[in-house]
Amino acid sequence: MKLLLILPLCAVFTLTRQAPSPNPKCACQVNNSEKEFPHDKLRAVERNTTNCNKNITPQKTLEMESLLLGLERRLIQLHKDVSVLEREDDGEMYGVLSLFVIENEMIEIKQLIDKLNSTTRDNRRLTEDTSQELTHLHAEMVEMEKFDTMQVVRGRQVNKRLKSDLKVCKSALNATAAPTVPPQGVCSHGRLRNVTGPRVYTAGEYAGSYSYGAWGRDPRPQPGKESWYWRVMMTSSNKYANYVRLYSSLSALIIGVSNPGNVEISSSNPTTNTIQGPNNVLYGGALYYNCYNQDSVCRFNLTTKAVSTLKLPKGTRYNSKANFCNLDECYPFTDLDLATDESGVWVVYTTTQDFGNLVLSKVEEGQPPTLGQTWRTSVYKQGVSNTFMACGILYATRFVSVEVEEIFYSFDTTTGRERFNLGIFINKMSRNILALNYSPVDKMLHAYCDSYMVSYKLLFL
Ligand SMILES: *[C@@H]1O[C@H](CO)[C@@H](O)[C@H](O)[C@H]1NC(C)=O
Ligand SMILES: *[C@@H]1O[C@H](CO)[C@@H](O)[C@H](O)[C@H]1NC(C)=O
Ligand SMILES: *[C@@H]1O[C@H](CO)[C@@H](O)[C@H](O)[C@H]1NC(C)=O
Ligand SMILES: *[C@@H]1O[C@H](CO)[C@@H](O)[C@H](O)[C@H]1NC(C)=O
Ligand SMILES: *[C@@H]1O[C@H](CO)[C@@H](O)[C@H](O)[C@H]1NC(C)=O
Ligand SMILES: *[C@@H]1O[C@H](CO)[C@@H](O)[C@H](O)[C@H]1NC(C)=O
Repeated sequence: MKLLLILPLCAVFTLTRQAPSPNPKCACQVNNSEKEFPHDKLRAVERNTTNCNKNITPQKTLEMESLLLGLERRLIQLHKDVSVLEREDDGEMYGVLSLFVIENEMIEIKQLIDKLNSTTRDNRRLTEDTSQELTHLHAEMVEMEKFDTMQVVRGRQVNKRLKSDLKVCKSALNATAAPTVPPQGVCSHGRLRNVTGPRVYTAGEYAGSYSYGAWGRDPRPQPGKESWYWRVMMTSSNKYANYVRLYSSLSALIIGVSNPGNVEISSSNPTTNTIQGPNNVLYGGALYYNCYNQDSVCRFNLTTKAVSTLKLPKGTRYNSKANFCNLDECYPFTDLDLATDESGVWVVYTTTQDFGNLVLSKVEEGQPPTLGQTWRTSVYKQGVSNTFMACGILYATRFVSVEVEEIFYSFDTTTGRERFNLGIFINKMSRNILALNYSPVDKMLHAYCDSYMVSYKLLFL
């Protein structure tokens, strides 16, 4: 301001002096009493604004949104389970089993709330820090505007940019992100890291009966059957079955109320198309299993009741010739192990030409189903107690003790790499695991153990 005033005064002074004297001398002293424009401060503000932009991103709110979404789903599930149990309360089982389901639900909800609590705390801290920073930046800007107007004009461009940065920064604080959509079709997670649980442990409807069997959840359910569970029991000599039993929810399975009931393949056992052995899976509304007295995979369409057959290569061992085993004994009629993962259906078996080592083939859907790509491994099938697939990787277990089973082996179909030292342990509720299958829907591992249905949560890298 002073500079601008001094210059015109000096000009007037010079003009007035020029008239009387032909040799005027005019000296103008310009005193700049103002401080230098604080460019370094401006740069600091700019830097801090950029940092502010980096810290508050929509991703920060995403985490919170997904937690809330998870919580919401859990609460709906809890509500459903409670009402199912209330409707179906007609026996002594109600008390104990309902408590078990609800307890499991509550544990998950508690975990979600804890995570939400810590995320909220972190976000609040971040919000407070940012608000403080914004207040500080604002004060700095006000301070800077007091400087020489010439400098402000020159710095206007910079300020404009700073202001818009601030605006972005502020609105990012308010940002509400779209809810997360879980990735579909592709497998987004890495290798298996650990197994926790059991999360579900139930004797189900026929407590103590039918030691051999399988159970689980259809990874590609038909519309309206998303929460359905299925169970196949070897009802004849621990070897054969002729029907699939369906339950409308997990709690229905636990309290033993089979609402859709049985879907029969044939009326008796054993006969053509009888289910032979426990390692079956339900996928896309069809049961895939080893069919009676054949080296074949059968597919039973639960809607049409049609059975189609996929013959395995010549030399495939069947009829209890190459079973899964624990230390002391082998599990009868476990020659073929059907499995599901993110990419569909697989079959694990062995052949004479592979000297009893595990062979893995993709089962291609289609009418009829066909055998897809095949991989050969170097692990002996009878040294393995069961197998399952997850994310294109074959995992094999071995018996360690009555309480513990170990996932010790993996075969990656993408790289062909084998590993023999995974060292992931499963806490067992009873001695033998007769069926093991992965559900990509909820990343649970379903095990059928001496008539008990048990499930574990799989943790991936
Ligand atoms: C300018 O500053 C000098 C030295 O600080 C001082 O002697 C002089 O009086 C000042 N002139 C005006 C116009 O303020
Ligand atoms: C920029 O941030 C740093 C560290 O948070 C702080 O020390 C500094 O005072 C801030 N500067 C300005 C101009 O806001
Ligand atoms: C959230 O965490 C704080 C600090 O750990 C704790 O005091 C508070 O009880 C927690 N709130 C809930 C609802 O868990
Ligand atoms: C942020 O939200 C607050 C309160 O809802 C509102 O007053 C403010 O205008 C919002 N700011 C922006 C930049 O959207
Ligand atoms: C795996 O999970 C079990 C049980 O939850 C736990 O005791 C163990 O420390 C975990 N191991 C690893 C490597 O995370
Ligand atoms: C079962 O049959 C129905 C009717 O033909 C068909 O739409 C469906 O794709 C079949 N399911 C399987 C898994 O083949």
